This record gives sequence, structure tokens and C-alpha cells, in this order.
Amino acid sequence: MASLAINGGAPLRTASWPGWPLFDEREEQAVLDVVRSGAWGRNAGKKGDEFEAKFAACHDAKYAIACVNGTAALEVALRGAGVEGGDEVIVPPYTFIATVTSVLLINGVPVFADIEPGTCNLDPVAVESKITDKTKAILAVHIGGRPADMERLGAIARKHNLRLIEDACQAHGAIWNGTKVGAIGDVGCFSFQASKNINAGEGGALLTNDAALEERCWSLVNCGRTKTGQWYEHHLPGWNYRLSEFQCAILLAQMERLEELAQKRQENGDYLAARLRELEGISPQDADARVTRSAYHLFIFRYHAEAFGGAPKERFVKALSAEGIPTSPGYKPVYQEPVFRSAPVFFPGVTSSTMVDYDRVDCPVCERLCAEEAMWFKQSMLLGTREDMDNIVAAIEKIQANSGELLA
Ligand SMILES: Cc1ncc(COP(=O)(O)O)c(C=O)c1O
Repeated sequence: MASLAINGGAPLRTASWPGWPLFDEREEQAVLDVVRSGAWGRNAGKKGDEFEAKFAACHDAKYAIACVNGTAALEVALRGAGVEGGDEVIVPPYTFIATVTSVLLINGVPVFADIEPGTCNLDPVAVESKITDKTKAILAVHIGGRPADMERLGAIARKHNLRLIEDACQAHGAIWNGTKVGAIGDVGCFSFQASKNINAGEGGALLTNDAALEERCWSLVNCGRTKTGQWYEHHLPGWNYRLSEFQCAILLAQMERLEELAQKRQENGDYLAARLRELEGISPQDADARVTRSAYHLFIFRYHAEAFGGAPKERFVKALSAEGIPTSPGYKPVYQEPVFRSAPVFFPGVTSSTMVDYDRVDCPVCERLCAEEAMWFKQSMLLGTREDMDNIVAAIEKIQANSGELLA
């Protein structure tokens, strides 16, 4: 008789996992207050200003600018930082598509640099090897909420006079070497889309410590206006990327639980990582003393098939999910997405001689991780109990003990 749930055995766990989003009367009251105030748009109310001040302060940043979503924040950050048509921006291939399409959307040229296997973040050595005289910026993602190596990436950016932009869309409250991420580089971008660690359904924000960048990004979010100019006075070709007062009010409520939930994820995430490190064939993201806190938006880990009878990653992901531990196989390399494959990638202002041939991009570490090793649990699972974390370990141990069944 089969032991593994994937083959009809009893699953190790049948209990549900913590749901998402978490809310109570604070979110309900916040929305009601805005409805009743009649001040629904960003320019009519004060919730947006309050949220920006709070978000900046809690991320060790001077300025925050709320906007419609993380993708918009990235477009604004890139344009605000001076990236123009044809400029190259170095990006990781292991990320959500928007990191890279935001570069395309402002007519920049994404250039992929490989990732480190242990962190799944940009490999600084690979980044430096991709710098050309057209490189304008490095777009560093804190993947899964685990800070990228801001020390080495910062040194490379300074040495080559490049902008360093943080995609912190998964990294609310993450701390690198004692400082919250988001404004360690020139400018950082956040998402408040429904799955994120703070959630307004949709939403985004930029952080920076640079007054000139703040002014420019603020203008780009606000139709090219200036803070002191007339309503119909437009200095830049900006967007209307303003966030509504409803979303800002919800975010204010969500922020009241950010620290408590961040601590809970860290506690459970660090515990789970330590326990999984004891298993043969499972590698959580590398520990690094400079990572004061991961936001654990995703709990990313690597699977080594040889410790599970050679069963392929897909089979393990399905087996673990069947045991009652929802597991995602995660991304494929961004440059393998159809947008870079089937249709010609369109860069206005870029001639064919300067086009990147994305069929020829080669990031072997990312390709191996996506195809064979990397997978994740989502952040809400880390809001459970210590017993929940032990269930995860026990399910993997069960699969390992019965790995012969994986190949059946
Ligand atoms: C790493 C990363 N970058 C960018 C984004 C884009 O954010 P949004 O969906 O709010 O546009 C997301 C999330 O969806 C993300 O995870």
C-alpha cells in the first residue's frame, strides 16, 4: 500500500493554513471613514500624506511616494533616476516579470545577470561582467524578501557611476545590515498587491533619501506637476499613478500589524530554515550575518534530487503539496517568457545593432534552479504555529523515507 499522499496514502496534514489577508475592524473602519468623508481622491484627503510619512519613517527613509502598483513604482523609479530609451539596466532573471517589463515600458534595455545559487539574488560578479558604456542602472531585487547584497552592489554602482534601484516589492520591513531596505540604493519600489506582506488589493510606493529624485518621481506620479505649481502646469510627461484614499487608509491599518507579522515570519522562517538545513537534500536561502531580517514574502529553498532517489523537482513539489504543504515550483527564467521569445521585443529608439538577442541569454545558475531546484512556500504559511513548521519538516522527511514511491 502506498504511503505518500500523491499515490493515494494518507496525507501528513489535513489542517488548513492561515488565510490572507488579515483584517479586522481597523480596515473596515478605515474604508468607512473615507467613504463618509467624501474625500476619495488623493488630492482631496489626508490619508495618502499620512501613509507616506509613516511608510518612510518605518523604512528608515526620508521620502515615500505612494502610487498605483509596484510596476508603476519601478517605471517611475527608472525614469526618475534618468534611464532613457536605449539605456541598459542590469536585472536578475529570477524575479516576477514586472521587474524586467518595467524597463521595457520606459524603453530601456534589460540586460540579465545571473543569480547566486545560495541567495537567488543578483550575483555581483555577474553584474560587473555585464556593464557596458550603455549601462545606466542596476535593478536589484530582494527576492522573497531576502535582501540582495547591497554592500557589493552599492560598491559596483559607485565604481561605475550607475544608479542602484531596489525592487523591494517583496521586501516590506526587510533589514540589511541594520537598515531597512528600500532607500539603501538611490530609490526603492514596493508593491501592495493582494499577496504582499502589506496589502491594499493593489498599490505601490517609492522610497528615497534623495530630495531631487523625490521631486522628480513625485512629478512623474502626478501628471508632471510640481508641488508648488498650478494644477494645470505640467513640466514632465508624467502619468497619473496616484493611489486612492481608500487604499491609503487600508494601508495605514495594515501597517499597524506590519512589525508584529514581520517578527512572526522571521521567527518561524528562521526556525524552519534551521530545521531544513539539518535534512539532506534541502537548502534554504543562505544565512548571512548582514541579513538582519528577511521579510520572508516567500520561503524559498532548493531541492537536491539525488537525496530523494533522483525524483524530478516537479514530482517533489506535487508530492509535498499532496501531503498538505502547499508548495510552488516558482518562476522560470524571465527571459524564457513568451514576451522575450515569440514576439520581437520592441524598443523605440533602439536600433537593431544594439538589440539584445534574448534567445542567447545564458544564466546557467538561474536555469538550473528554475528547472531542478528552487521552490517556495508563501508568506502566510509562516504566520502559523511552530507545530505548523514542524509539519513541513515531517512531510519532507516522510517523502524522503518513501522516495522510492516518487519514481513509481
Ligand atoms: C519582485 C516584484 N517586482 C514587481 C512586482 C510588481 O508589483 P505589482 O504587481 O504591484 O505591479 C512584484 C509583485 O507583483 C514583485 O513580486
